[in-house]
Formats: sequence, structure tokens, C-alpha cells
Amino acid sequence: MVGFSSSLGTAFLSLLALNGLGALAHRWFNWQFDITCEATGYFVPGNEADLVEFVRTQYPQKTLLKPVGNGHGFGNLTTCVNDGESNRDSYILSLTNLKHLEIFENKTVTFGGGWDLIDLIPTLEENGLQVANLGSEMVQNYIGAATTGTHGTGKQHQNLANQIIGLRVLNAKGDIHIISQEHTPDLLKAHRIGIGALGIVVEVTLQAEPLSFLKRTSKVVEGPQDITKLYEMIAEYGDKYEQVNIIGPNLDWNVTTEELVPRTSLTLVYWEETDYTGAPNCSVDFCANDCGRCDRDYVCYDYNNYAIATPPAGICYRGFMGQFEHFFPIENLAEAGRDYFNYALSQSDRMKPYQLDNPIEEGLHGGYLSDDVTVITRFIKGDDNWLSPVNKDNLPANASGIFATLEYSWIPSYNNYTLQWFYQDLLKEFIPVFGEKYNVRPHWNKMLFNNETYASTIYPKINSWLDIQEQMDPHCQFVNEFLAESLGIERCMSLFQ
Ligand SMILES: Cc1cc2nc3c(=O)[nH]c(=O)nc-3n(C[C@H](O)[C@H](O)[C@H](O)COP(=O)(O)OP(=O)(O)OC[C@H]3O[C@@H](n4cnc5c(N)ncnc54)[C@H](O)[C@@H]3O)c2cc1C
Ligand SMILES: *[C@@H]1O[C@H](CO)[C@@H](O)[C@H](O)[C@H]1NC(C)=O
Ligand SMILES: *[C@@H]1O[C@H](CO)[C@@H](O)[C@H](O)[C@H]1NC(C)=O
Ligand SMILES: *[C@@H]1O[C@H](CO)[C@@H](O)[C@H](O)[C@H]1NC(C)=O
Ligand SMILES: *[C@@H]1O[C@H](CO)[C@@H](O)[C@H](O)[C@H]1NC(C)=O
Ligand SMILES: *[C@@H]1O[C@H](CO)[C@@H](O)[C@H](O)[C@H]1NC(C)=O
Ligand SMILES: *[C@@H]1O[C@H](CO)[C@@H](O)[C@H](O)[C@H]1NC(C)=O
Ligand SMILES: *[C@@H]1O[C@H](CO)[C@@H](O)[C@H](O)[C@H]1NC(C)=O
Repeated sequence: MVGFSSSLGTAFLSLLALNGLGALAHRWFNWQFDITCEATGYFVPGNEADLVEFVRTQYPQKTLLKPVGNGHGFGNLTTCVNDGESNRDSYILSLTNLKHLEIFENKTVTFGGGWDLIDLIPTLEENGLQVANLGSEMVQNYIGAATTGTHGTGKQHQNLANQIIGLRVLNAKGDIHIISQEHTPDLLKAHRIGIGALGIVVEVTLQAEPLSFLKRTSKVVEGPQDITKLYEMIAEYGDKYEQVNIIGPNLDWNVTTEELVPRTSLTLVYWEETDYTGAPNCSVDFCANDCGRCDRDYVCYDYNNYAIATPPAGICYRGFMGQFEHFFPIENLAEAGRDYFNYALSQSDRMKPYQLDNPIEEGLHGGYLSDDVTVITRFIKGDDNWLSPVNKDNLPANASGIFATLEYSWIPSYNNYTLQWFYQDLLKEFIPVFGEKYNVRPHWNKMLFNNETYASTIYPKINSWLDIQEQMDPHCQFVNEFLAESLGIERCMSLFQ
């Protein structure tokens, strides 16, 4: 057993805005600075006991409480309620000081809510361990990532939440709930994807696994111009590879014809187990999120977690970007992929007034030329977590239980709110058109605009989840407008009128 604990922990003075003694308001921004809110204050407890005391004190006053991770989202999930918009105080909470970590012989790891992936993954590695899967960059707080269903790719790989076998959760009254796979398996399925609304997660226990190596291959392939055939091909690649990211097709703006033009070359990035033991070299370059080049063939070898997720030297791309990611049963991939792409193409006319007539400048899009609309396809094994975007709860009995995702990014050629919001209007249109047809579930922390009626179709257990929400949070202190609207938390709506 290896134990870590922050010796500084108790020496930290809690950082607390002097409420009532003059405003120390705290403005929060997401990673790309297009989503923001202003809280009455910011509370950074030195340890769990400080947090418990704070939450107990705030309960009678019904103070709004928003725990935040690293703000790597695209929508309003993580926003606080603006100070002055209700008659309550509103606090942002950071658990960054909760940095204890203990590793057990059975490869379970228990750690505080302060751990970010960028520190957690190397710490596990030093102890001969890794997690089963990660997203494409190690930018998130572990809880911030897991609780929204963050995923990587792989038909036999699940999202991060499934790594969790235990949680310590603080409710609005200030009571700790211990939830575990062993003793309360149903509650664990509710809480793994709690999206900040089921309480403050102070500690996680995950099941890690021994370190292993992967070989990563990047390969550029030309796809057919015909979009139906292109998506048949993409679905075949999905069948062929166990763990693959399919980057492309893209839509490029042609300044002469003033329209979007499909570019049907694809970059396959796939991973295979290997017994390689040489020097690891996947961190050199990674065709993901503008962190490296996607236009060439190469292979690399690394520890699993470094081969699938890049430890960014900062964030690779930080300009405005409108992005959704939609999950649906893999059986629908060829048709849904075709229909989504043709729909995006059909929006071309409306983009005309917003395009510059000089070509995309280098720099804004990272170190090399990028595209106006990019599509990425990934795969995830389904699960039974109640609010998981890959929950199997409404699938027909003969379904494989494997999901595909389409990630669409609209990348403006200049950072301008008018353009960013216009792109958001374009991407809002997809769920109403395709949602029911293809059983589409949106990523919780990318752009999501669905209503409660739709939420109850894709999350059949939502009412039981909302019952737990009410028990954990009787005064709606963990709820913001986004949660109230997209989940239909009726009892909290009046706060936002
Ligand atoms: C460049 C980039 C790359 C990305 N790549 C991927 C990818 O490959 N795959 C993928 O699936 N997603 C990806 N995402 C999305 C990202 O994984 C999610 O948005 C994730 O939720 C961000 O984590 P965070 O720590 O920044 O969370 P935040 O946005 O800060 O928080 C997310 C939610 O968690 C809640 N929360 C945080 N901490 C706690 C706590 N202690 N207790 C209770 N609730 C808490 C917050 O209240 C909020 O509701 C990417 C995003 C970006 C910007
Ligand atoms: C976030 O909320 C603000 C304020 O209600 C709204 O103007 C904006 O459109 C929302 N953005 C997204 C991406 O949902
Ligand atoms: C792992 O070991 C710890 C410490 O002995 C124990 O408390 C825990 O129950 C074990 N967990 C599992 C899943 O075996
Ligand atoms: C744009 O379209 C014109 C006319 O079809 C074509 O000649 C030109 O090559 C295209 N430009 C780019 C950059 O593809
Ligand atoms: C990584 O190392 C392997 C084995 O030496 C080599 O074949 C491969 O080209 C290297 N990849 C990169 C990206 O340097
Ligand atoms: C933002 O873009 C819109 C649409 O192209 C344009 O009308 C507006 O002037 C731009 N605003 C700024 C501040 O550049
Ligand atoms: C499942 O059954 C339905 C109805 O019988 C059928 O239309 C569908 O093709 C089947 N799906 C799979 C994946 O076999
Ligand atoms: C809710 O969303 C669904 C799916 O987008 C849509 O069909 C329906 O009209 C919406 N209902 C309301 C009341 O807005």
C-alpha cells in the first residue's frame, strides 16, 4: 500500500469571500472563454472538514453551490447562477486542495476530488498502474471528466465513469454518503454520472489495472466522394478495428464558390496491444484536437494512457469552437453518419455572410491549416449508469450494446461572439431532426440543448435519478438553469424565472 497525503492540507487557510463585508465576487470562465458566470464568492476548502462545515452553514440560507473541475466544457453545465439573478448567494467551490491518494494491493485507488488527470495518470504510472480508458487529452479534473461521461474510443472500452467503484459524496445538508459497488450498486449507477447535481464528490475509488503498452497507428485513407458510400466505409472501419478514432470527413469553405465542400480523406488512428518494451514515443505527436499532425502515416509505442491521451503542453487549440458530440447505437452509424453530414452541408448557404473572403489564416487554427467543420467518429461500449449517454436502458433486445459517436466542430475563422453564437444555432438543429430517429444522446458537457421530454426518452431512469437529486439537494442548491431545463427539475424552475 502506498499512501500520499498533502502535508500542506491542514496548513491551507480556506479561501472564502468575505460575504457581507463587501463583495469579493468571482467570475468564472470555461476553457475557451465563451461561457461565463459571476458568483457571489469562491470557496476553496483546505480539507474535507472545512467543506462540510461550509456546506452545513450554507444549508439554512439555501446558498447556491457549484463545484467545478477545470471548465473544459462547451455548454452551460458548469456555470454558476449569476449573483443577483436570484435572491440567494451563489458560490463556486474548488476541491483543488483535496489531494490525498492511496493505492491498495488489489489495484484500487482512492483519492480526493482535487486530482487532475495530468497529475493522476503519471502518479498511477509510477506505481505500475493505469486506468482502462481516457479521452483524447489529459486536461480534465478526474471527477469533472468522469461525472459527465467523458470517454475515449474502443468497442470494448467504456467511459471513465465505469472505472469508479466507490464515491464519498457530500449532500446539501452537509452529510457524507458512502456509495460503493459492493454495498450500494444501484446508487453507484445513479451517482457515477451525477453531473454536479447529486452532491459534491469529495473522494473517488477507482479500479486501476497493471501498466500495459499500446501501439498507435495513424493512417491516411482516401474515402469515396459519395457520402453514402463514405459512411458505409466508416462503419466498416468501425467493425474492423477494436479501438479506432476516425478523423474526417471535413467541410472546407471554398472562397470562390462560397460554399462548403466535402473533403473525404480520413485519418484512422487505431491502437493495438503490443509486447514492445523500447522507449515510449507517442507523446511526440498526436493527431487529436490540433495537438499534432493528422496528414501522415506513422506508428508509435507508449504506455496505454499516454498512447490514447495526450498530456498537453498547455491546451493545443484555444480559439472559439462550437462542438457537439452525439452518441447513438453503432447499428445506426452508416445512416446517421450520412444524414448528419448531408445536413451540415445543407447549412452552407446560411454560413455565407459570416465567412471571410481571405483563406483561413495560419495561427488561429493552431500550427497548421484546419477546416471549417470537422467530424470525428469514435466507439464506446455501453453501460447501465442511469444518466450515461451510452446507457443501454432503451435499446431493443437484439442490439449489440455498442455505441458510436459523431463529434462535430464548427471552427470560426476568427474569434467573434456573433459567429460563435451563429454556429451554436446551426448545431442546435441536429437533435430535433435526428434525435428520435437514431436514438441520439448528447454529451453532457459539450453543446446540449434538449428538453426534459427528450431527456426522459433517452434516460428511462431519469425519474429515479431526480428523486435522488431531491433527497441530496432539497433546496435546489446544486441546480443551475441548464440542469433545471434540460432535465426537467420542475421543483427548482421558479429559481430561474
Ligand atoms: C480540448 C477538449 C478535449 C476534450 N476531449 C474529450 C474527449 O476526448 N472525450 C470526451 O468525452 N470529452 C472530451 N472533452 C469534454 C470534457 O471531457 C468534459 O467537458 C469534462 O466534463 C471536462 O472536465 P472538467 O474537469 O473540465 O469539468 P468541469 O466542466 O469543470 O465540470 C464538469 C461537471 O462536473 C461537476 N463537478 C466537477 N467536480 C465535481 C465534484 N467534485 N463534485 C461534483 N461535481 C463536480 C461540475 O459541477 C460540472 O457539472 C473535451 C473537452 C475539451 C475542451
Ligand atoms: C448559456 O447561457 C447563456 C445565458 O442564459 C445563454 O445566453 C447562452 O446561449 C447559453 N449557451 C449555451 C451554449 O447553451
Ligand atoms: C481492496 O483492498 C482494500 C484494502 O484492503 C479493501 O478495503 C477493499 O475492499 C478492496 N476492494 C476490492 C474491490 O477488492
Ligand atoms: C474552389 O472552387 C473552385 C471552383 O470550383 C475551384 O476551382 C477551386 O479549386 C476551389 N478552391 C479550393 C481551395 O478548393
Ligand atoms: C517510435 O519508435 C518506433 C520504434 O523505434 C519507430 O518505429 C517509430 O517510427 C517511432 N515513432 C515516432 C513518432 O517517433
Ligand atoms: C463579428 O462578426 C460579424 C459577422 O461576420 C460581424 O458583422 C461583426 O462586425 C463582427 N464583430 C466584431 C467585433 O468583429
Ligand atoms: C433487431 O430487430 C429489429 C426488429 O425485429 C430489426 O429491424 C433489426 O434489424 C434488428 N437489429 C439487429 C441489430 O439485429
Ligand atoms: C422537446 O424536444 C424534442 C426533440 O428535440 C422535440 O421534438 C419536442 O418538440 C420538444 N418539446 C418541446 C415542448 O419543446
